[in-house]
Amino acid sequence: MEIDFTNSAEEIIRNLFKDLERATVDRKHPFRFCYLATTEIDQFPAQRTVVLRRVLPKQELLIFTDYRSPKIQEIKQQNQVSLLFYHPRLQQQIRFQATAKIHHQDSLCLTEWNKLSDHGKNDYQTILPPGTDLSYYQESPSHDSSFGSDFFSILSLKPRNIDLLQLGRGGHIRMVGEFENGEWTGRRVMP
Ligand SMILES: Cc1cc2nc3c(=O)[nH]c(=O)nc-3n(C[C@H](O)[C@H](O)[C@H](O)COP(=O)(O)O)c2cc1C
Repeated sequence: MEIDFTNSAEEIIRNLFKDLERATVDRKHPFRFCYLATTEIDQFPAQRTVVLRRVLPKQELLIFTDYRSPKIQEIKQQNQVSLLFYHPRLQQQIRFQATAKIHHQDSLCLTEWNKLSDHGKNDYQTILPPGTDLSYYQESPSHDSSFGSDFFSILSLKPRNIDLLQLGRGGHIRMVGEFENGEWTGRRVMP
């Protein structure tokens, strides 16, 4: 959705979260995919494409992942992450800094697991953990549904701040905002 910068920062951000929510149900929405940055164990930054699966009413963003994937260890070590969205047609960029929480074998995981199709579940039931060196394996990697939801995990990301950039022919517009004491405040800054 086009951003109406005459609105208050709080309203702009509220509308943005509605847009993100839409992206979780609209497979063609550009905000369906986003880029999650973590800090590797050796302190290098690491980014990867992920699917935005759910936006909770308390504005937490949910990503599904394999509990054995390196990003889990990275987040255990450093739970401050960054999440980037880009909408090419609208030329909108959203950048969040967020605090990540790992869910594994809890009620949130169970609820989301039960909503996944069998095909969707396969991604979290591979016999070999993500990143395994395949040089020594002859057979193609397969999955085992008897793992159930053992390796299914959810990252819930709670944004701490936002950096919103809207490119435009008539001039670019940028707004930054902070989430503190349960509410967003924001201000325009130089793009
Ligand atoms: C379009 C696309 C969507 C992806 N979605 C996810 C996802 O939702 N969750 C996930 O863990 N990995 C997803 N991946 C794979 C990750 O980008 C990454 O390769 C994988 O999670 C391993 O990351 P790590 O080694 O940093 O933990 C996706 C990749 C692509 C290309």
